[in-house]
This record gives sequence, structure tokens and C-alpha cells, in this order.
Amino acid sequence: MKFFVDSADVDAIAELNDIGIVDGVTTNPSLILKSGRDITEVTREICEMVDGPVSAEVVALEADAMIAEGRKLAAIAENICIKLPMTLDGLKACKALTGEGYKTNVTLCFSANQALLAAKAGATYISPFIGRLDDLNIDGMELIGDIRTIYDNYDFDTQILAASIRSANHMKEAALIGADVATAPPGVIKAMAGHVLTDKGLEAFLKDWEKTGQKIL
Ligand code: G3P
Repeated sequence: MKFFVDSADVDAIAELNDIGIVDGVTTNPSLILKSGRDITEVTREICEMVDGPVSAEVVALEADAMIAEGRKLAAIAENICIKLPMTLDGLKACKALTGEGYKTNVTLCFSANQALLAAKAGATYISPFIGRLDDLNIDGMELIGDIRTIYDNYDFDTQILAASIRSANHMKEAALIGADVATAPPGVIKAMAGHVLTDKGLEAFLKDWEKTGQKIL
């Protein structure tokens, strides 16, 4: 499973990128607002830092305007992936921009039928929002499983990008169910590394090492 960082915070992305576990980045208008930065500037900075795709989202609602915005965003860097909302106009723009050779990410997906349509429109990625479904007591992970089955039934190339991930457990479940990518806030990705027994074991090893009086370097 590929790891994307769901953030427009350059420092937080850099910290994970330096570890070598970042395959891409996703942003959205809310994350741009949170960053307090200009969309073009911050997106360019992220694109220069990260090798993989960086999703930047259009805000127009009508297909022609989405296409124009998408082209403008794509001009920021070669690794831009144009993020489009899961609407009929978004699908039309997706089909057109995919045809022009751009990478596309259809976002705000909450049903298997929406994912089926996005695949038909040639989306590079479909972004089902797990956490926001869970918030409504609907099993978000079940949606990922349904989309996996449908895409596998017909060998669709569209990649399932599990989004609105809220916990390390969501990451594990997305991996188990076969999501191609999961995008998560930096804190969630960092939380995946933690375990109380790792901390306890390390502490014990270091105490014993001190008693040996030895040095490695
Ligand atoms: O990738 C989509 C994500 O940014 C939405 O997450 O937590 O606002 O539902 P959330």
C-alpha cells in the first residue's frame, strides 16, 4: 500500500519524507486554509520536495471551469494530480483531463456507485472518505472493500485511495482490505510506529547495554 500524506504543512511532510516512507501528498481547500499559504506557492514547494503525485483540488463547479483550473494547477509541477469533486461535472472534467494525459483524483466519494463512475471516467485515483462515513455510523471500510471487489471484477486501473483516515487502525484496515493507497494526516502516520512494548523493550535493552560498559562507536 502506498502512503500519501494528507497535509499542506511543508515541515510535517518533510519530516516524513526524510524517513523515506512518503509516496505522495494530498491537499484540499481546507488544508490550504490551514497552512495559511498561497496555493501555488505551497503546492510548488511540496511538489519539489516529494517525488510522487501531489493532489491539488479545483474549486469550480462547472466542467469547463474545472478543466481550466485543472490545467492551471497542473502547470505548477509535473507531479501534480488534479483533484476533482465527485459530481457529474467533475466526472466530465476527469474524462477530459485524463484524456489530456493528466493524473486525476476524484474526491468526496461516499458510495460504490460513485467509485464505479469515477473508474468509467478514467480517474487515476478514487478517494472514498472513510472517517466521514464512520462519523455517520456507516462502515467506511466496508465501502473500500466493495470498491475493491468491483474494480477487481472488471480490471479497472483506477487506484483506490483511502481518505479521511483518522487513526492508525484505519491504516491497518485499509491495507488488509486492499486499498492501493492510503492518505493520512502526519500524526496518524507517526502513530503507526508507536507501541508500548517497543518503548518498554528498548528501555530494558539500553539499561542492560549500559551495564556491559561497552561502546559500539
Ligand atoms: O483526504 C481527505 C481528508 O482530508 C478529509 O479528512 O478528516 O476532514 O474527513 P477529514
